[in-house]
Amino acid sequence: MSRKILVVGNGAREHALVWALTKNSGNEVHCAPGNGGICEVAVCHREVKANYFPAILALCKKLGVDLVVVGPEEPLVNGVTDFLSANGVAVFGPTKAAARLEGSKVSAKQFMERSLIPTPEWCYFRSFRRAAAYIRGHKGQLVVKADGLCGGKGVTVEKEIGDKKKSKEALVAAAKELMVGKRFGAAGESIVVEEKLVGKECSFVVQTDGTNVMPLKPATDYKRRYDGDDGPNTGGMGCYAPVPRFTPDIEEEVMERIVMPTIRGMAAEGNTYRGFLYFGLMLTRKGPFVLEYNVRPGDPETSVQLPLLKSDLSELLFAGVNGGLAGVKAELSDEAAVCVVVVTENYPDKGGSSGEHITGIDYAKECGALVFHAGTAKTPLGSTVTAGGRIFNVVGVGDNFSDARDVAYRGTMKIKFGTSDYRRDIALEPAFSPPWGTR
Ligand code: AMP
Ligand code: GLY
Repeated sequence: MSRKILVVGNGAREHALVWALTKNSGNEVHCAPGNGGICEVAVCHREVKANYFPAILALCKKLGVDLVVVGPEEPLVNGVTDFLSANGVAVFGPTKAAARLEGSKVSAKQFMERSLIPTPEWCYFRSFRRAAAYIRGHKGQLVVKADGLCGGKGVTVEKEIGDKKKSKEALVAAAKELMVGKRFGAAGESIVVEEKLVGKECSFVVQTDGTNVMPLKPATDYKRRYDGDDGPNTGGMGCYAPVPRFTPDIEEEVMERIVMPTIRGMAAEGNTYRGFLYFGLMLTRKGPFVLEYNVRPGDPETSVQLPLLKSDLSELLFAGVNGGLAGVKAELSDEAAVCVVVVTENYPDKGGSSGEHITGIDYAKECGALVFHAGTAKTPLGSTVTAGGRIFNVVGVGDNFSDARDVAYRGTMKIKFGTSDYRRDIALEPAFSPPWGTR
């Protein structure tokens, strides 16, 4: 019997989910709205947007969908799970109340404080005047974060520049832009100001049915635009998994001090969490800390985590939604995976590119690379064109980082369009330095 699964979203993360779900020939996979690559492997419903719930529901009813998986945070934070569940559709994703772990940094911090989960020291402000006074008077380095969703652009980290007064004033300016300038509207009216931690970041993503937890391989994400971690923050320029510095001992500590207290704490507060849960961790001399929760799988992390999942993803999702992950063991591969994100030259400052012809995708696949599409579309004649700033996640899997990297870059170099660009240093330093860094 074929099972119908609807994936909601249109990025490389959703392409990776669709790719993993279609490995089981018993699944009929649909995607709303999808993109130029997803439509090659699943049925895309381009007219159904991720944030318009009645259209998603109508599609589920029309198709008789057995399960919905949601990629982006916005629909989850706005209650897509509650809406679809109330109408009899099964969703692997958190409710609106549980999704506040990502939807409000203040709520997430308060929850961590109540649940004794390690997270940087913090304060929150509704008044810009008070925030500015606090920042100027604080001795240590700080981070300013908008409370609400800002598409990953609401965080400013204090720079390590010699002039302390200047670096504090830059943070005050960031707070002003959020609170007074209302750069992100209501999302920035309240801010969190927290202690800046020094260490190495790690993305730890689990699937949970509300009680039981199944981790995926830990991953490291490259957020800065240019080689050597230079330039502005982006939605991720590449990543790799696993993370050698994330040793079994560290994983045990993270499970005991962070993951299980989160799952148990949410359940105890009546907000049982089901779905993917992403822990943005900082590994420091004092142990692991939570910088952020995301209530969905990561992008680009999913592009390396799912190729390292040997078990059938759909079985895990169906088990998860029915509270049945107890005793289910996901099999993970011992291989390494590296992902290079292909973007437009003007990303992230400008709007990307649209309608540029892309060649070489098949050659990239012939090199052994997995090519997950992000901002692409199909022309009426069936060729693939650009449609955004992030265009592809190109992934190599191999016995070690060197092999995986080789496949990812050989694939990346085959893909050609006028404004293409990518970082050249992804997975060049696979994490063999100490967890707290070398600075
Ligand atoms: P967030 O959305 O909270 O994860 O923040 C985005 C990025 O800002 C993180 O991935 C880190 O690179 C950086 N960041 C956030 N909080 C801190 C912190 N307390 N200390 C150092 N870096 C941070
Ligand atoms: N890679 C960061 C994120 O998915 O939020």
